[in-house]
Amino acid sequence: MLEQYKEAIEKSNIISKTDVNGIITFVNDEFCKISGYSKEELIGKNHNIVRHPDVSAAQFRKLWQTIKAKKTYKATVKNRAKNGSTFYVNTTVIPILDTNGNIEEFVAIRYDVTKEVFYKQSLELKEKELQELNATLEKRVLLKTKELKELNETLEKRVQDEIEKNEQKQRIMFWQSRLASLGEMLANIAHQWRQPLTELSLTLFSLKKAALHENVDEMQSLYHESKNIIQNMSTTIDDFTNFFKPTKEKYYFKIADSINESLSILEKIIIKEMISVNTEFEDVEVLGISNELTQVLINLIQNSKDAFLQSSVLIKEINIRVKKEDTFAVIEFEDNAGGIKEKDVYKIFEPYFTTKHASSGTGLGLFMSKMICEQGLNGSINVKSKKNSTIFRIKIPLQNRNEIDAK
Ligand SMILES: Nc1ncnc2c1ncn2[C@@H]1O[C@H](COP(=O)(O)OP(=O)(O)OP(=O)(O)O)[C@@H](O)[C@H]1O
Ligand SMILES: [Mg+2]
Repeated sequence: MLEQYKEAIEKSNIISKTDVNGIITFVNDEFCKISGYSKEELIGKNHNIVRHPDVSAAQFRKLWQTIKAKKTYKATVKNRAKNGSTFYVNTTVIPILDTNGNIEEFVAIRYDVTKEVFYKQSLELKEKELQELNATLEKRVLLKTKELKELNETLEKRVQDEIEKNEQKQRIMFWQSRLASLGEMLANIAHQWRQPLTELSLTLFSLKKAALHENVDEMQSLYHESKNIIQNMSTTIDDFTNFFKPTKEKYYFKIADSINESLSILEKIIIKEMISVNTEFEDVEVLGISNELTQVLINLIQNSKDAFLQSSVLIKEINIRVKKEDTFAVIEFEDNAGGIKEKDVYKIFEPYFTTKHASSGTGLGLFMSKMICEQGLNGSINVKSKKNSTIFRIKIPLQNRNEIDAK
C-alpha cells in the first residue's frame, strides 16, 4: 500500500530528494519535464541547479534554517529551467528523520503554479496601471478641457468667418437682385410714361393750334392739362425712387399700404396682362421696412405675371388676403397661373434657381423675398402648389407696440 501511495504522489506531483547537503539523489519524471533536465543531468548535482537568480539569499537561508531545524518548509518558489525560462512551484520540503531522529534526507513535493503566478502578476500590473491612470486622470481631464476650450475658441472664430463670408455673399446677391429689379423698374417707368408722353405731345400740338388762334382760355386749360400730366409723370418717378431708397431703421407700417404700393408700381403691367387682382385686407401693422415687403409683393406679382404668360388660363386672377392669426399677421398670395412643378417646388427659394430664360430671370426673386421675410420682418414664407394654383403664405409676428417701446 505504501508503494501505491508513493506512486500516486509521484504521478501527481513534482518530486525530488536530496541528501543533507542538498545533493539530488532522486527526481521523478514530472521534475524532469518542468525543469527540462534529464535524470542523469540532475542526480548528483546540487539542488540549486534550478535556483532562479532572483531568489534572494535571505529566502534561501530561511529554507535551510527551517528544514535543518527538522521543520517542514512551505513556499512558492521561483525556479529556472534548463532553457532559461521561469517556472513557479508551490513547494513543500520535508526533512526525513532516521530512527535516531537525525535528518537522513529531504523530500521536496511541488506543484506547478506558473500560470497562476503569471495571472496574478499581470493582474497586479493592470491594477498598478489603473492606479496610475486614476492618478493622472484629473490631469488629463484638465488637459483635454483646455484643448477643447481652445478648439471652441478657434471654432467660434471659424464660424464667425463663415458667417461673414456668407453675409458678404448675401449682400452681393441682394445687390444683384436689386439691379435686376432696377432694370425691371426702368422698363416699368418707360412703360408708364409712354401714354402720358403721347398725351403730352397731343396737348402741346393743341396748344400750338390755340396759340395760332390766340385763344387764351383754351391755351390756359391746355397748359394746366400739360402740367397735370407732367405732375403725374413726376409722381411715377418719385414712387420708384422712394422704393429704391435704402432705409435701414425699422418702423411700424400697415401691411395694406405696402401691398397697395406694389400694386400701384405694377399697375400698368397688371392692366396690360389683364390680370384681375382681388384684395381682402384686415388692418394690420407690423415692424420692419415697408419698401422691403413691397419688394416681396412685386417679386410675387412678377412671378405670377410670368407664369400667366406660360399658361392658357383665360381668367387670370391673383387673390391677396391679409389677416391676423393668433400673434401673427398672415399674407396669403394666390394665383391660378398653373402651379409649380412638384420637382421644383422645393428649390424655388434657392438662389439662382430659375426655370426662365437667362434674359428674363436671375432666380433671385424668391430667394431675396425669403431673406426679407426672415431677416427683415422676422417671419417666414412658404409655398403650396396645387394643380392649377400657387399659394404663398407669409407669416410675420405681431409685436405689441407698448412692449417694444418699453424696451
Ligand atoms: N407663381 C408662380 N407660378 C409658377 N411658378 C412659379 C411661381 N413663382 C415662382 N415660380 C417658379 O419659381 C422659380 C424661381 O422664382 P424666382 O422669383 O426666385 O426667380 P425667377 O422669377 O426665375 O427670376 P427673378 O425673379 O430673379 O427674375 C421661377 O423660375 C418659376 O419657375
Ligand atoms: Mg421672380
